[in-house]
Amino acid sequence: MRRWGFCYTPGLSKKAVDGFGKRKEHNNDMKTNRLIIFDTTLRDGEQCPGASMNLREKMQVARQLARLKVDVIEAGFPVISDGDFTSVRTIAREIKGPMIAGLARCVPKDIDAAAEAVKPAGRRGRIHVFLATSKIHREFKLGKAQDEILRLAVEGVKRARSYVEDVEFSPEDGSRTEPEFLVQVCRAVIGAGATTVNIPDTVGWAMPELFGKLIGRLYEEVTEFRSGKAVISVHCHNDLGLAVANSLAAVRAGARQVECTVNGIGERAGNAALEEVVMALKTRNEYFNQIGCGVNTREIVRSSRLVSRMSSLLVQRNKAIVGENAFAHASGIHQDGVLKKRETYEIMDPEEVGWGKSELPLTKHSGRAAVAARLRHLGFKLSEGDVQAIFARFKEIGDKKKFVYDDDLTALVGGHITEVPETWSLDYLSVSSGSQIVPTATVRLRRQRNKKKEPEVSQDAGTGDGPVDAALKAIDRLTKIHGRLVDYSIRAVSQGKDALGEVTVKVDFGQAKLVPGKGASTDIIEASARAYLNALNRFLSVDQKDDKSSQP
Ligand code: KIV
Ligand code: ZN
Repeated sequence: MRRWGFCYTPGLSKKAVDGFGKRKEHNNDMKTNRLIIFDTTLRDGEQCPGASMNLREKMQVARQLARLKVDVIEAGFPVISDGDFTSVRTIAREIKGPMIAGLARCVPKDIDAAAEAVKPAGRRGRIHVFLATSKIHREFKLGKAQDEILRLAVEGVKRARSYVEDVEFSPEDGSRTEPEFLVQVCRAVIGAGATTVNIPDTVGWAMPELFGKLIGRLYEEVTEFRSGKAVISVHCHNDLGLAVANSLAAVRAGARQVECTVNGIGERAGNAALEEVVMALKTRNEYFNQIGCGVNTREIVRSSRLVSRMSSLLVQRNKAIVGENAFAHASGIHQDGVLKKRETYEIMDPEEVGWGKSELPLTKHSGRAAVAARLRHLGFKLSEGDVQAIFARFKEIGDKKKFVYDDDLTALVGGHITEVPETWSLDYLSVSSGSQIVPTATVRLRRQRNKKKEPEVSQDAGTGDGPVDAALKAIDRLTKIHGRLVDYSIRAVSQGKDALGEVTVKVDFGQAKLVPGKGASTDIIEASARAYLNALNRFLSVDQKDDKSSQP
């Protein structure tokens, strides 16, 4: 495996920069040539409407982020719900390698919850405290003057430092904060013990040149950034499509941590996409003065696919680096050029980011051991019971299609591990549909009220304006829960007419958040029914009932 940049030594808490590779010393300028990749897929990414993941999904993503070798995983916002607290704590306990951060507002109960949640990570635990500093937020949201903001920020950081050595402070809406005040805030929080100060472009308002200037100014005026006592970080949102450009401009100006998410998922238009930041840095390394990072780029595509599945957020075909078309040359001239010399039309080698040779497909003759080995190869850590259940689905699919590809298998895992307690499951489905008849679906469901009891089986029929509508109406009649289908998409998981169809839905069950669901089958009506039931089971599961409506 080829690595680039400098090696990362975990446990950087004494001075946040200490563990991050070689530094260039120049006129008291300790600018390091190592960029810290802070991944917030599981926190800001998960705040994206319809993206909520359950604990098992978050664990799979966290494991993959560790394989990707990000430096910091922001695992959640512990105070917001029991579900978030548990997932941060479980990730802190089980994921080795990266630092594990928990987010907190600048209030004692948030900081205490974050401290408790990251505790199992020991010296790899980080508390990330934030408080808005811009004029508009001070006046209209917080009703506080600058002095009061400074006092609260200092108190919050000190409290966090009483628990951990690694404390990050974010002046929320930093890009719209008066620069003089921002300098004051940075000095004050570093004085109180912050080891990283992160400047968020919370509303995606910044322009690359100006944002670079702002970061450059902070870098010049706050001596602790230059002396290496604290790291300057950025966190950019994509409302104007500039999150990556702003992040990169900041790196040129002195930022040494970038906060980003896989596939750029996140609040509203999303956050800076990790894969774009990392590959820009690598591909145009001379432009970035040889700054490197520890990410294993060959894990990028795998991470993208996993996050897309776990979050139910599809990746657009033309998405840079990870979209299906990112390396697909349609024009004959381009194809000819690439065949003669790849670099004529390709600035990156697709294999460098993990595209490329897939393993031989499995078939219905493949045994349990072969399937288990392939699942391990794909990066899944599953229990015996999970492997057994996925193997049973694999056999069903193997009977219907000749080859089962890695993507098919990943879809089966996605379908299985999202199966939050399977209160309702599909037992039988029959549909009649055509141009001259009213589409009708007969559905038989099993209801597992209690693990100790036998499931109850019930059957009903529904009609609709299409076979999917008919099947979902029959399900509503049986469950007596009426969901409103807000979003529906279908895609072929692999190639060929016998490909698995994967359906992703977002359903409104009258909660603050839409509930995602997914299901896969060679029969697209069955895949739709499975996806809808998956969303329903999530809705009924405990961790969906946490109130997340107060997220920032
Ligand atoms: O966008 C933002 O300002 C945030 C902070 C909590 C860092 O997500
Ligand atoms: Zn954000």
